[in-house]
Amino acid sequence: MTSPSDAVLMITDSPLEASPPAARWPAIARVEPLGELGKIDLSPYTAILVDADLSNTANIDRLKKSLLALERTIPRYFLVAEGRRVEIVQANVLGAHATEPRPLTADGLERLLSSTARQSLKEMLDSSSAAVAQAASRALGTAFEALRTNTSFDSASVAEASDTIVDSVGTDGLGQWLDTVRAHHQGTYQHCLLVTGVLTNFAQKVGMSSADISKLTTAGLLHDIGKATIPVAILEKPGKLTPAEFVQIARHPLEGYDYLKAHANLSTDILAAVRSHHEYLDGSGYPDGLVASQIGDLTRIVTICDIYGALSERRAYKPAMSPPEALAILEDMSAAGKLEPALVRALRGAVEAA
Ligand SMILES: [Fe+2]
Ligand SMILES: [Fe+2]
Repeated sequence: MTSPSDAVLMITDSPLEASPPAARWPAIARVEPLGELGKIDLSPYTAILVDADLSNTANIDRLKKSLLALERTIPRYFLVAEGRRVEIVQANVLGAHATEPRPLTADGLERLLSSTARQSLKEMLDSSSAAVAQAASRALGTAFEALRTNTSFDSASVAEASDTIVDSVGTDGLGQWLDTVRAHHQGTYQHCLLVTGVLTNFAQKVGMSSADISKLTTAGLLHDIGKATIPVAILEKPGKLTPAEFVQIARHPLEGYDYLKAHANLSTDILAAVRSHHEYLDGSGYPDGLVASQIGDLTRIVTICDIYGALSERRAYKPAMSPPEALAILEDMSAAGKLEPALVRALRGAVEAA
């Protein structure tokens, strides 16, 4: 066995039986469970290799305590799920010198340990912006199809998409998210991804808690899921809708609400946002004609960001509206008593800060 003086310490949150035996990879001198990290002297090792779920906050807290106190000259490497931005971002925060996709292979280990072939974290983050939007779009596709066929809802993939969007918008900003989505996606998915980015940025810029940021992001992804039941020809119609077509479209909030209430374990305010995101404070919206006192905060925010997202969409028949033009329309609607002025002002601040 390699001596600790020139060897790697591997830290894992998996059961030790499942971890690579040191015999297979002689460079790994020792494998220890993450729970023991606080008790181990890290200083004799030439590198630390972490294989732990970096979306888990308890894991992050443990790692921070030990790794941030450790000499920067001892490189730390992380295994991450490929394309899972939340893990890449956390690895970066923990001072990663390099990352490799999980599961570790002999080649991967060699890449990590060879100083010349280290993958730049920045490159990995840049290339993953489009990957995040792609994964979110796949999760949306699955959710839309599940509603259409009235089958089970995959809450894990929606939660993961929501996490990665929070990281992507937080790291690269709203502008990059909107550009990426406009370049790669169309129609209803483009709309849902744009609205989600606008909501995430809003929640981050006004300083909401991470629980509320995640709620708003999930609400953004799911707000129009009821459109899965509406014919695409109506959804994508470039011109004005006939009254009969509007009646069909106007069913989507209730369709989405009924499906999610039956199939997903979501908080009541996310469900309310799905049902009521087309309601206006003056009672002129649909499907229930609610008035201000009946419309909660989360719903009000989703409504405003939904409109902003719709105006910012690029379609074959219309260019994307600029942020000042879109904000001016929201301000007119707020002056007319339909939207909450304070929230529209907060959105202006959030968009300008982005
Ligand atoms: Fe909608
Ligand atoms: Fe919408």
